[in-house]
Formats: sequence, C-alpha cells, structure tokens
Amino acid sequence: MGRPTSSSLPESAPQESLTIRDNRTGKTYTVPIADNAISATAFKTMTAPRKPGEREENETEKGLRVQDKGFLNTAVIRSGITYIDGDAGVLRYRGYPIEQLALKSSHLETAYLLIYGSLPTNEQFKFFESEVMRHSVMHADAEGFFRSFRYDAHPMSMLTSAFAMLGSYYSEANPSLQGQRLYTQGNAASLATMDRQIYRLIGKATTLAAMAYRVRQGRNFVTPPTGLSYTGSFLYQMDHLSEENYTPNPVLEKALDVLFLIHADHELNASCTTVLQTGSSLVDPYSAIAAGCASLYGPLHGGANEAVIRMLISIGSPQNVPAFIEAVKRREKTLSGFGHRVYKTSDPRSFIVRKTADEVFKVTGKDELLETAMALHDAAMKDEYFIKRKLAPNVDFWSGLIYRAMGFPLDFFPVLFAVPRVVGWLAHWRQMMLQEGGVKIWRPRQVYVGAGKRDYVPVEEREKVEGAKQTPSKVEHGGITKRTMLATFKGKSKL
Ligand code: CMC
Repeated sequence: MGRPTSSSLPESAPQESLTIRDNRTGKTYTVPIADNAISATAFKTMTAPRKPGEREENETEKGLRVQDKGFLNTAVIRSGITYIDGDAGVLRYRGYPIEQLALKSSHLETAYLLIYGSLPTNEQFKFFESEVMRHSVMHADAEGFFRSFRYDAHPMSMLTSAFAMLGSYYSEANPSLQGQRLYTQGNAASLATMDRQIYRLIGKATTLAAMAYRVRQGRNFVTPPTGLSYTGSFLYQMDHLSEENYTPNPVLEKALDVLFLIHADHELNASCTTVLQTGSSLVDPYSAIAAGCASLYGPLHGGANEAVIRMLISIGSPQNVPAFIEAVKRREKTLSGFGHRVYKTSDPRSFIVRKTADEVFKVTGKDELLETAMALHDAAMKDEYFIKRKLAPNVDFWSGLIYRAMGFPLDFFPVLFAVPRVVGWLAHWRQMMLQEGGVKIWRPRQVYVGAGKRDYVPVEEREKVEGAKQTPSKVEHGGITKRTMLATFKGKSKL
C-alpha cells in the first residue's frame, strides 16, 4: 500500500519499491513492488485538496484513480495457468511450450493440465476422459430448444444461449439456489460439485455445438457415440447420418484435436476476462461460460477466423491484394487475422496452424483461397505499415482456411474456437473460485466526465437538444410493406 514518506526522496526506501512524488502536494509515497507489479489501490492514498473551480466529480480528495482503457497494463488476477511473452512469441500452458504440447499431447490431456495444473498419469487421464465423455449426453428436451431458433440463426447465437439453457437443468449447481459459497469452500464436497460442472461443460460443449450444426443442416440429432476420441465424437455427432460403423477421417480428427489444443487457453483475453468478470458475482458456471461465448463471438476476437475468410472471398484473387493492402493503409478496411494485443513479433500458434493446414490439405485438397491468403500474407509482411506496427498473422489468419477445407460453414468457425476455449475459461474460473483470500467481485472504476449535479427541468421549460449522438435515431420499420402503407384500415396496426 502506498504511504507518504517525506517531502524529499526517502533514502531508506526498500529497493523493491516505487517512489512517487505527488507534485500537487509535494508528498512522496513508497509503494512496494511484488512480482514486478504494484497495487493500484496504492494510488487511492494519494489525495490532494480540490483546486478552486475543479469539478467535485473528480473526487481529488478521495485519491488518484488509475485509468486504463482496454486494460492495456492492468493485471486483474494472479494466475498460474498460461504464460505469454508477446515480444518473443512464446506461449506456455502451465510452463509447457505450446509447440511441445501440440506435437505430443491431446486436447483432453491438455485440458487436464490447464485445469488441474499437472500432466495426468495414465490412470488419471482415463478417469478424466471417461467423466468428460459420459457427461456429453444431453437431455432430450434440448432438442426442442434448438428447434425453436430461426432457420438462419447464427450458430454462435445458438451456442451462447445453449450454455445458459444448460444451467437451467442443474439447480444443484447454482449458488443462487444452493448458497453463495458453493464453489469457494475448497473442501471435498465443494470441489466435487465444481468438477462435476467442469466435466459436464467440456463434455456437452461438443454436443451443443453439434446440435447447432445439425439444426442448420436440417438433420435429426444423434446421441454422442462411445469409443471415439473427443474430436472424433464431435465429428461423428455432426456428420453421422445412418451409415453403419461411421468413423471420422483420422487425419481430420487429429487436426481438429491439435486446433482444439492450441485454442484451449490464451490467458486473459476478452472472453476469459468476461468469464471471470461474470463469475466474480458468484453466478453459476453455465451463465459465466455463456457470457464468455458472447464475448468470443466478436470479430476482434474469436469471430476473426470467419472474418478472414469473408475478407479473402471479397479480395477474390492474388492480383487484387495490392489494392486491398492500400485500402487497409487508408483505414478503409481491416486486415482480419493480423495483429494482436500481446504478440508483437509472431503468434506461435500460427506456425502450428500452418503445419496442420498442410496435413489437412493432403486429404481434402487445397482451398482455392489459399493463394490469395499467401499473397496477402507476403505483401503485408513486407509492407512498412505493418512492419512499423508489428502486425503479424495471428492464429485466425490460417485456421479459417483449414475449417473451410474441412467443409465447415463460415459461420461455424467461431464455434470451433469457442468449444475448446471452454477448457481455458473453466481453468481460470476454477482458479478464481479457489484463490487465496476468496473471490472479490470485479467492479472497476470510471473517470466521470458527465454533467455535474443539475435540477430536473419541467417539460415546458426545456431547451431542445439535437444532434446525431444525442437523440434517438429514426429507423425503418421492418414488416411494413408498401402494400400495407397503401392499404386503408380501421384501428391501429400491431406492427
Ligand atoms: N489491420 C490494419 N491495421 C491494424 C490491424 C489490422 N488487423 N491491427 C492493428 N492495426 C493498427 C491499428 O490501426 C493501430 O494503428 P495506429 O497506431 O496507426 O492507430 C495499430 O495497428 C495498433 O493497433 P491497436 O488497434 O491499438 O491494437 P490492439 O491491441 O488494440 O488490437 C487487435 C488488437 C487484435 C484487436 C487488432 O490487431 C485487430 O483488430 N486485428 C484484426 C482482428 C483479429 O485478427 N483478431 C484476432 C485476434 S487473435 C485471436 C484471438 O485471441 O481472438
């Protein structure tokens, strides 16, 4: 915690500390540094009297606030799960380099590692795998839920809603019904309740995703098979019709497993942060995962793989790449699949995806957009605009090409990101529930720049405020056709 020391620099300040002089008051504060971090609440002690004429909403006398739009440099949790060195292009799960895991591990083994902290023995893995797989079966009523969506519903809308719907089946898993300490006690019963939800969510993630897929294809639903791997079962659940002994292609099953593994976690990205933010109110994990799913869906995050393919289709062919690059530089377009908040050299996952793409193309044939993608990649990597801003391909630049070659519809791509990410979200959620000192609700501060206190004005005395952002927009009304407009009728239309 920051504490004022003296008006001059303290010679006795410990080396692992920061000395801050507040020039408004002349006071000097010493703030301890631990693990190369300082506590933001230390700034709360740095108070100053309000200047004459200063807005009271600044709350200057209540201490300094730390402003960080978009969390550029704010650590919100202490974590032992995933480490990223963005400058060196390093990604490690629980200390293990992603390249080694992609080569030697499997998605479910890595899930065990991420959630429980160490690689499982054979026996431990078998237990975990069988729990996950046996929890993959959905209640038959869920069929009605999926059938209630519009024929063209985006599968991410279905998946997001499905996770929230799933929670409604398990009242015993809901802290609002069972008591708010359901997941935070750390005793055997509490851990067992938590782990049961983990098995269910990982097990049912593929089932819900496959149901979203089948409903769009107009297919009946299938019961998850036995004896197949996690990704083998997922492929079966999407693709099996009435053939006997249906077995997914092993190359595609393995490729999907590698893609799942490298998507399993990525520390505090937008969706994981959303899961933790939502979970910090101690809501049930199904609701928290649904919130994470919603966050992942955006085109700046997990929706980027879909956006990349739409971009490549719009570019059309390698000869149109230079014009596209120029449009990006004029800020008329975004080069989807490039750039990253953390990686400033390369995204290590993108190399694994490139290698996986080669394996997949051997059995599916090359995707026709590959040449355009290569031309775009090469042009961007040589261009000063991208070099200066340290923009390199991220995982999404290549993954969409694999999903397309595997025959998945474009709007299903974010689902293929969300399903494996359930693992990472749960690892972080479990860690937060069990963290030392209990769960603290996530409640950030704001810098209030709005109106100061003012009195309510009666309608007849108000001045009209106008402006694009200050008044409700006029909108077209769907469903009212020209024919309706030309018709005459008594009473009011319902629309
Ligand atoms: N195309 C063109 N310019 C870009 C791009 C891009 N893809 N990404 C960043 N820039 C520019 C940006 O305009 C800014 O330029 P300037 O400094 O002149 O204003 C500069 O590079 C820094 O970018 P930023 O927006 O401050 O970076 P950020 O850390 O806030 O955003 C990002 C990171 C991933 C949202 C962004 O790079 C982006 O929009 N990329 C495209 C979407 C995408 O591929 N998302 C997937 C991310 S990886 C998978 C995942 O984890 O979800």
